[in-house]
Amino acid sequence: MKQHDLLVIGAGPGGYVAAIRAAQLGLNVGVVEKEPVLGGTCLRIGCIPSKAMLESSERFAATQHELATHGIKVENIQLDLPTMLKRKEQVVGTLTKGVDSLLKKNKITRYTGNGRFVGPGRVNVEAKDGVIELSAKNILIATGSKSASLPGVEVDNDRIGTSTEALSYPEVPKHLVVIGGGYIGMELGSVWRRLGAKVTVLEYLDRIFPGLDTEMAADAQKLLTRQGFEFRLKSKVKSARRSGDGCIVEIEGAEPVTCDRVLLAVGRVPNTDNLGLDAVGISVDKSGRIPVNKAFATSTPGIFAIGDVIAGPMLAHKAEEEGMAFAEQLVNGWSHVDYDVIPAVVYIHPELACVGKSEEQLKAAGVDYRKGVFLFRANGRAHSLGEIDGKVKVLADAKTDRVLGVHILGPRAGDMIAEAAAAMSFGASSEDIARTCHAHPTLSEALKEAALAVSGRAIHS
Ligand code: NAI
Repeated sequence: MKQHDLLVIGAGPGGYVAAIRAAQLGLNVGVVEKEPVLGGTCLRIGCIPSKAMLESSERFAATQHELATHGIKVENIQLDLPTMLKRKEQVVGTLTKGVDSLLKKNKITRYTGNGRFVGPGRVNVEAKDGVIELSAKNILIATGSKSASLPGVEVDNDRIGTSTEALSYPEVPKHLVVIGGGYIGMELGSVWRRLGAKVTVLEYLDRIFPGLDTEMAADAQKLLTRQGFEFRLKSKVKSARRSGDGCIVEIEGAEPVTCDRVLLAVGRVPNTDNLGLDAVGISVDKSGRIPVNKAFATSTPGIFAIGDVIAGPMLAHKAEEEGMAFAEQLVNGWSHVDYDVIPAVVYIHPELACVGKSEEQLKAAGVDYRKGVFLFRANGRAHSLGEIDGKVKVLADAKTDRVLGVHILGPRAGDMIAEAAAAMSFGASSEDIARTCHAHPTLSEALKEAALAVSGRAIHS
């Protein structure tokens, strides 16, 4: 039986980061991953391939619709989808191999196969050539999540599929029906819309992006509608099934919709099947997540969990933070994750990003706040980029001026939100951001102006 100080089950951004940090801190670490490729959902079938496709499709759309305004004429623009898909695979291949070499560099032992608890401190790996028996004083569950199903929706992993299929459709759908107006639906819907598909979004609620700031989500919906998305809110899907080469989607109280592909994107659920949790006395909560304390410890000594299998947003960077904090707590006895400052980014065009509280959350908590808004159409760099849609919104405590939330819909919002997150990590006031010199001409000036607007002092609006 092989022994480790720490055994990590799952090599996604949570697991591999925890493994590397623990190895850096001197532990003998093993990683168990059932897939032959490292990196988890994020690298293989999530964040990275979707961003590759978003970038390619955005360039295709920009070449068609925007280059002429820059005085660049391009004729006979053609889509070469196989090359686009191949490039995406290459991006994934480069990055997953990178994780491989990081594990090697840190002398982490890798086991390929499903890891299953067989008793306290013991895990069996169901590998190709037989079972590998492992033991470890500390075991970290970082097995991530999988797409949620919906009763009546017959997923065949082809015409009716999840994000995994939507990253690799072999041809542009004529009509793609997206069930769920969340992160995945809007990002992958954008990819296929830009490449020419008709995209209809069926959302159960009366809004898209539930959980994000209502005003910003409504602004984003307007821009997506302008890009050609069709939204059908308050639509409860009863069923979706194959019909020949197409699909039929039934909606409560409305006519059925026919289409040639369906993307089911109604959330994700933790991956705890086949893990043998019973063997170590761990039970999951109502939402299928593993309960842990602040040190990521489960109810069973020596077993810990991080990432999508525990509470909190299912985001790669949240899992990474937890992976770092877990390893440091284990070895040094301290570290923490600042859950109030976890940014979120939706990679639509323009991007939608936020950190901290939404207006609804502040109202619900009875917090008295002030709001500063600045539109990108008043920012010089936005004009030179030809990207003037969207705005920055800063929410600050009315008494202390501490920044409580920042919301950006606009060009490169996903990069811009990092400044807001750094400021909030240090407990900044809107005055602190307003007094920080921002280079001109940059998009970041819009954040400074929104911070100035909190006290009615924006210069350019
Ligand atoms: P989501 O939670 O973002 O959105 C799901 C949507 O489906 C919600 O709007 C919900 O109201 C709707 N819905 C639920 N049941 C429905 C029904 N029966 N009929 C119609 N609509 C229904 O989930 P999504 O998009 O599947 O993403 C899963 C997770 O993956 C998210 O929690 C997100 O954290 C993560 N993710 C993050 C990305 C990023 O950081 N850029 C990108 C993609 C995914």
